[in-house]
Amino acid sequence: MTPIPAVILLLLSTTATTTTLSSDVSALKAIKSAINPTTIPPYSCLASWNFTSDPCSTPHVTHFLCALSCSANRVTQLTFDPAGYSGTLSPLVSQLTELTTIDLSDNKLSGPIPTSLFSLPNLQTLILRTNSFSGTLPPTISTLKSIQTLDISHNSLSGSLPDTSSSLTLTRLDLSFNKLTGPIPKLARNLLELALRSNSLSGFLSNSSFSELTQLEVVELSENFLVGTIPSWFFLQPGLQQVNLANNKFTGIEISIPVDSDLVAVDAGYNKITGCLPVNFTAYPVLSSLSLRYNVLHGPIPEEYSRKSTLRRLFLDGNYLTGMPPEGFFSGKSSVYGSFGDNCLKSCPTSLQLCLKSQKPSSICRRANGGKVKLKS
Ligand SMILES: *[C@@H]1O[C@H](CO)[C@@H](O)[C@H](O)[C@H]1NC(C)=O
Ligand SMILES: *[C@@H]1O[C@H](CO)[C@@H](O)[C@H](O)[C@H]1NC(C)=O
Ligand SMILES: *[C@@H]1O[C@H](CO)[C@@H](O)[C@H](O)[C@H]1NC(C)=O
Repeated sequence: MTPIPAVILLLLSTTATTTTLSSDVSALKAIKSAINPTTIPPYSCLASWNFTSDPCSTPHVTHFLCALSCSANRVTQLTFDPAGYSGTLSPLVSQLTELTTIDLSDNKLSGPIPTSLFSLPNLQTLILRTNSFSGTLPPTISTLKSIQTLDISHNSLSGSLPDTSSSLTLTRLDLSFNKLTGPIPKLARNLLELALRSNSLSGFLSNSSFSELTQLEVVELSENFLVGTIPSWFFLQPGLQQVNLANNKFTGIEISIPVDSDLVAVDAGYNKITGCLPVNFTAYPVLSSLSLRYNVLHGPIPEEYSRKSTLRRLFLDGNYLTGMPPEGFFSGKSSVYGSFGDNCLKSCPTSLQLCLKSQKPSSICRRANGGKVKLKS
């Protein structure tokens, strides 16, 4: 056996009795001092951050009990408890270059999200959900080389959505309940979940934004200002299971027959969609929930809808649908829950749950269907 040189022994012994890298300690100090001390309750995690001890050295008896995890002498996770902390997030957080997880959700942090945060090369999970962060996001997140989950929902972010298209790692993006504006840019191609509910996004659903997304399963875009026709390619995305496009300004919908599809639920209610109910929806093999309520749809309810055995929920109320509802819904075998009310249907028996809500007054129906629209001269 060759003897181990003394210098290596020395290195080994210093890593064994490891103390936290000093730039990590200074980052943690800055992070704690950016929190308003009156909002740090005695029982909270941050109250136990007492820098007379070393943050990463174990065992943690009274100090650094929670809100951080280390690997050797580096901080790898910053996970605040929901104690109601207010204040800001220190830009020195970017010194914690070994961070894989940041979760500060359900607090009252405000001010901008430091741009430096978006340079953390190992960050996989960034959750700032339900705080009061404001300002804009950087134009691209391409510097977050490992990001998988990005959830900054329920804050006050403004400006446009960042370009995520260069990320191959991002699978979950939730920026719902902010004040984001502008169109949906090109998206990360490995996304499984996209949630942008309740912002002020505008523009069309563009093929180029979604074109390479083969895994997308859940799309939540409700409560925005998206316009145009919901195009048929949108529903043909191969992984798609749940789509919520309700409460936008869509004016049309195109549905073509899929080769195969896992689409289970579609909500396109509360838009301005005109035309007839798309029969092709029934070609989606496992479709179980469909809402097109409160649009401007005309024509009859297709017979095929009543024969669609996978369908459990069907909301078509608040349109201008005419004719008699298909017999199949009233055969006693149908277990569809939903509503056909507030339309112009003939003989929708109010003894049936689907017809509980009454139909529109005939004067309104006459004007909408067949009644000539007078042009002002
Ligand atoms: C930090 O810990 C030291 C030693 O345990 C203690 O004397 C001091 O009061 C603590 N500081 C705070 C702010 O709790
Ligand atoms: C969508 O975009 C892709 C690639 O950009 C293209 O190949 C495809 O034909 C487009 N589809 C439609 C329906 O425009
Ligand atoms: C139904 O789908 C077929 C095939 O995809 C398409 O040719 C047809 O135009 C669709 N019908 C409607 C009303 O969109």
